[in-house]
Amino acid sequence: MKPAGSELHRHKVADHFNPRHQWLLISSILIIMLIASCENSSTLKNSDANLISLNQFDPCDNPDAEITCCFANMADTLSNVMNIAKPNEPGEPLLIRGIVFQTDGKTPYADVIIYAYHTDHTGHYAKKGNEMGIQKWHGHLHGWCKTDRNGQYEIHSIRPSPYPDNTIPAHIHAAVREPDGTEPYYITDFVFKDDSLVDENYIASLMGAGGTGVVNLTKKANETWIGQRDIVL
Ligand SMILES: [Fe+2]
Repeated sequence: MKPAGSELHRHKVADHFNPRHQWLLISSILIIMLIASCENSSTLKNSDANLISLNQFDPCDNPDAEITCCFANMADTLSNVMNIAKPNEPGEPLLIRGIVFQTDGKTPYADVIIYAYHTDHTGHYAKKGNEMGIQKWHGHLHGWCKTDRNGQYEIHSIRPSPYPDNTIPAHIHAAVREPDGTEPYYITDFVFKDDSLVDENYIASLMGAGGTGVVNLTKKANETWIGQRDIVL
């Protein structure tokens, strides 16, 4: 006989409190909680791994890193003097100074940050082992300065040597960051007029900003090589 509505309700309520059903219900809940716990644990482990991986990944530790990486490790405060080589760095002392101008070629350009790096006296991008980011590739002979209100800058270092294969002139790579917040960019390398590899073909091949970059270096016996390069941006 089909139970009446109220009896059916009581039947379902009675089923709910059936000890066997209760046990099944509790077991199911425990199994679900166990699975959820395992999944959470797995997720946490994956997150931790990702975090560790992210901490170790430095996008600037790459020879082809974004040019902004050149400016990632500079000091908060810069003067217009860039000191690249320490006093004990082997090689011949070098001083290059000049004025950075705005596009009109007349107005001194203040607050332009210049980044430069170059090879050592053997033609290698030598490392000390404590370089960070892109300087792991550029080597320890690098530095930054910021033009003063007259657009003036100075680079103090040693004269770099050409690569050991001697196929391109000795050079100093340089990038600039203008104060207007635009993307930094490389200017033509500094090269030296007395370098036999700085010939018409080399100069004709230049396409970068900032002029040819050819610096006429002079020095008195056993003194510093001195040259000037004015740069129009
Ligand atoms: Fe180079």
